[in-house]
Amino acid sequence: MTHRVLVAGASGYIGRHVVEALLLQDYRVVAQLRTSAQWTLSHPNLECVYGELTESGQCLQDIQPCDFVISCLASRSGGIRDARLVEYEANNRLLAAASQWRVRRFLLLSAICVQKPRLAFQKEKLRFEAKLRESNLPWTIVRPTAFFKSLSGQVARLQQGKPFFVFGNGTLTACKPIAEQDLAAYMVEQLTNSLAIGAILPIGGPGPAITPLGQAQLLGQILQRPVQTRSLPPRLFLLAAAFLTPFGIVFQRARDQAEFLRIAHFYATESMLVWSEESGAYSEALTPESGSKTLSECYQQIIRGDVISDLGEHKLF
Ligand SMILES: NC(=O)c1ccc[n+]([C@@H]2O[C@H](COP(=O)([O-])OP(=O)(O)OC[C@H]3O[C@@H](n4cnc5c(N)ncnc54)[C@H](OP(=O)(O)O)[C@@H]3O)[C@@H](O)[C@H]2O)c1
Repeated sequence: MTHRVLVAGASGYIGRHVVEALLLQDYRVVAQLRTSAQWTLSHPNLECVYGELTESGQCLQDIQPCDFVISCLASRSGGIRDARLVEYEANNRLLAAASQWRVRRFLLLSAICVQKPRLAFQKEKLRFEAKLRESNLPWTIVRPTAFFKSLSGQVARLQQGKPFFVFGNGTLTACKPIAEQDLAAYMVEQLTNSLAIGAILPIGGPGPAITPLGQAQLLGQILQRPVQTRSLPPRLFLLAAAFLTPFGIVFQRARDQAEFLRIAHFYATESMLVWSEESGAYSEALTPESGSKTLSECYQQIIRGDVISDLGEHKLF
């Protein structure tokens, strides 16, 4: 019998690839979408369900029971209220439906950055992770490192001859980025991997780890010209956040703006690798790898104009 999988956050960068990976493996997919979603994929094994999971779980009541639930839900802004509504409350509604259906697995797409929870969205992710871990369902939590889209925001700038921005000397952080198709395939594989039940799985793409300076050098090799870098001090973000904080007491918007600056500071200073308690440092060796597509291939595709990159909301510069 073909298994049914509910995918929440199906319209997202990873969610779309998870839907495609499931269809390739002959699963029947129920894509949960917001009422405003622009969705064009159609397939005989694909059913779409529309509703606002941040408001109620009503749309889930109309779905025939599923065997698996995958949540790729994520706050698009990282704003304080949005993070609570999406990362915690919407996921809770999914968990309630999954419990009713007694699913074989609830697979949550989380993020490796929750290892050092300083930001509102990280705390909400961890709050839901804890709830899922306490549930009676078989669960798996996947915590990926950086996505290719997060490292591609400056390619267009370089093509226009502009410099590549780095923080500090460009080696403050490192990551093992993973391609969206490789991550989706990895997640689908975990659904039937009994060893992944009750496991938190950090995952990156093929190594070695790369720093922002390394990304600039890689782009220089591909473009066959030297790439100029321009350094910014990460503390600028914290200074600006501190300036906004008093306004945040009254204005939600200022509170969110200060949070966005703290998010930028976090990514400017923290690596997306497994944190080793033993050495008190991020560890490339401890960060597992999956997939085969490299960042170099991704950059070459973008420069050739082969891919429509989904970068809009993730550009820092
Ligand atoms: N970016 C990185 O490098 C990185 C690295 C590691 C882990 N992660 C984590 O990976 C996860 C997925 O990332 P992604 O880039 O695929 O996310 P994304 O493209 O921003 O997609 C988010 C999904 O959640 C849905 N969503 C957002 N707000 C919603 C709301 N109010 N109500 C209902 N649905 C809502 C979106 O629906 P709409 O399309 O309708 O907005 C979309 O389907 C996140 O948890 C992120 O933290 C990211």
